[in-house]
Amino acid sequence: METKRWSVDKTVDKRELYPQVSQAADLLRENEVIAFPTETVYGLGGNAENDGAVSKIFEAKGRPSDNPLIIHIGKMEQIEEFVQEVPQKAAKLMEAFWPGALTIIFNKKEGALSDVATAGLSTVAVRMPDHPVALAILQESGLPIAAPSANRSGRPSPTTAQHVWEDLNGRIAGIVDGGPTGIGVESTVIDCTEDIPVILRPGGVTKEQLQEVVGEVGVDPALLKSKEAPKSPGMKYTHYAPDAPLYLVKRGREELQEIINEKRREGLSVGVLTTEENKAYYDADVVYACGRRAELETVAAHLYEALRSFNNTDVDLILSETFPSEGVGDAIMNRLLKAAGHKVIE
Ligand code: TXA
Ligand code: MG
Repeated sequence: METKRWSVDKTVDKRELYPQVSQAADLLRENEVIAFPTETVYGLGGNAENDGAVSKIFEAKGRPSDNPLIIHIGKMEQIEEFVQEVPQKAAKLMEAFWPGALTIIFNKKEGALSDVATAGLSTVAVRMPDHPVALAILQESGLPIAAPSANRSGRPSPTTAQHVWEDLNGRIAGIVDGGPTGIGVESTVIDCTEDIPVILRPGGVTKEQLQEVVGEVGVDPALLKSKEAPKSPGMKYTHYAPDAPLYLVKRGREELQEIINEKRREGLSVGVLTTEENKAYYDADVVYACGRRAELETVAAHLYEALRSFNNTDVDLILSETFPSEGVGDAIMNRLLKAAGHKVIE
């Protein structure tokens, strides 16, 4: 399949985004799948009402069929069509964070969406992205759009159209290039089907921000211990992994440098994932600085690009610094731990 590529300038007036946006929306209505930018990562969208369209998403990504997709909407009213009810706390969260990097789990209205999209669950995950290009495409199509991150399953999520191209060229109908995404890690997933909302995946909206709006917020125990079975099906799979094995080093930089030296003496080529503040310190085969430690948002924005960049080198292993698990650091550490398959050097 030939993968079409459109470039759009997200800073221009909405009307000028056409005709690229209307071509992309037409393909969605024809049950083709296309990748488009959101404020978190690029998504791979398809008509959530159509089994055939949704199956194409799973096929292109190589995604296990028991891992449900997030349904993206461009207008608030759309949600009434496929959720049973909007609980009060969910309504507060929607008002505070939509459009934005928050995905909310609701009880699903049966029959309104493809069961393939929701992996046959009785619940559905919904989000309204905060990106002019995503919103324009969603509104123009008029459809609820199922959209996982636009990477091959297991690989780091794409934060540029080039990342999507590397993973999915020839497998999807098109890619809308709206430049690099902003936040860089995926949305926070919060389950609002119980009285106390529970975070199933940390992401762009922090726990602290959520608590300010709805008070007490729980955290899926599986996020704290690696052995527990997660409530969010996708969290159980290996994910975000670069080709070379990744180890997180919870020690100071002197000790990290000693590990580098030791591995190099064994004849291995070593990559280091660090930040601007520390990059000049390390002596290794490849040193990649991922944002500034003093501003964790910049680390989030460059994390997946950093993980992918090592695939263009011939390092045998990657050693990464760790980050404080507060604010967006929570999402950064969650993704790093998964990328490392929980290999941590304490
Ligand atoms: O930022 C994002 O959320 C991006 C952009 C494209 O919107 N999308 C994204 O989708 O990250 P995906 O498919 O890569 O991750 C969706 C996560 C998975 O962990 C999945 O298991 C979970 O949401 N999920 C979806 N529906 C669910 C449900 N009904 N209950 C629990 N978890 C659900
Ligand atoms: Mg994903």
